[in-house]
This record gives sequence, C-alpha cells and structure tokens, in this order.
Amino acid sequence: MGALTSALHELSEGDVVGIRGPYGNWFPHEEMRGRRLLFVGGGIGMAPLRSLLDFCLDRRSDFGHIDIFYGARTPGDLCYTEEFEAWRKAPDVNLYLAVDKGDEQWKGYVGVIPRYVREVAPKAENAVAITCGPPVMIKFTLPELQQLGFTDEQIITTLEMKMKCGVGKCGRCNIGRTYVCLDGPVFTYAQIRRFPQEF
Ligand code: FES
Repeated sequence: MGALTSALHELSEGDVVGIRGPYGNWFPHEEMRGRRLLFVGGGIGMAPLRSLLDFCLDRRSDFGHIDIFYGARTPGDLCYTEEFEAWRKAPDVNLYLAVDKGDEQWKGYVGVIPRYVREVAPKAENAVAITCGPPVMIKFTLPELQQLGFTDEQIITTLEMKMKCGVGKCGRCNIGRTYVCLDGPVFTYAQIRRFPQEF
C-alpha cells in the first residue's frame, strides 16, 4: 500500500524490525462500560476497531449488546475473515458483513455500509458508535447514525490517516491547534465538529 508495506515485504527471515509506540490517546473504553456498542468499519479501517473489539470481547460482561458492521469493496478485501466465526459466536454479538461487489460464493449483503446501517437500524439508546474507514464511508455513515438518534458525543472515530511522524514533530497531522498524533487519533464527532473548516 505504501513505502512501509513495500519495505516490510523486502525483509527476510532474521531481519530486525524496530517498533515504537503506542502514542496518542486511546478508545475511551472506561466510558463504554455497560453500554451498547456499534462498530462500523470499512476496509483496512477495521484494524484499529478490531483491537478494541478484542478488548471488549475479552471482557464481554462489562459491555452491552454489540453490533459489528464491516464492509469492503469485494469479499477478497475483507480482513480478519478467520475471526468472523468467533465474533459471531460471542454472546449477544451480531456481525453484519457487506461488500460493494460480490462474487459467485458471496451470499451476504451487497451494498454500502451506511445503507446497511440504516436498514438494520441499531438502537442509539445508551449506545456508543465507533467508526473507522475511508472518509467517504464515514461521511455517509454519520448522517445515518444521527438519523437513528446518535448524538455527536455518542460517535467516536479515529483519524489514523492524518499521521506521519507520530510524535508531534513534523506538523503534518495538525488540524488548527490539534495534533492528531498527540491529542488523538481518537476523537468524538463533537470534538471533530469544533475543528476549523480546513478539515
Ligand atoms: S504526525 Fe507529525 S506532528 Fe503529528
């Protein structure tokens, strides 16, 4: 997908990889306790959501009902396919998968995630929606969530795509005075609405 991915693919067994982090803030899981959770992921945007989902499934009784909406362009673009069965079997969890374009084997939903969310209509009461994916998916999912009654404070997203250095030095991630790498990447939609128009 980019310079990092290519460099990783050029490594051989035994090569050394340095990892730094984690940096920035985290999903406010303390505030999610006892509440319904709605995960809305698109493409590789499922990666950060999955770590939170694993965390919540490990502590299943601490959280309410969980709905997982996950969409990709084609069935081959869905990640974590080997984990879907465990997600489905977890108590009080519904998994909704969607693709823009199916193939001969695909029996699931064909269409975009915002429309799927509208059709299933998860309850907003005592719920938190956590979303990550392509900007266009988030743009069209937000009005659907608002239509269902989610307030700006009940919607959380993560702006990973804005980051470069990750340590507040390069000035590539800032939106006004906010540094996504230091102050984020996790923000409520209420916070994002207060960002200057440049975003
Ligand atoms: S990513 Fe470099 S300053 Fe935030």
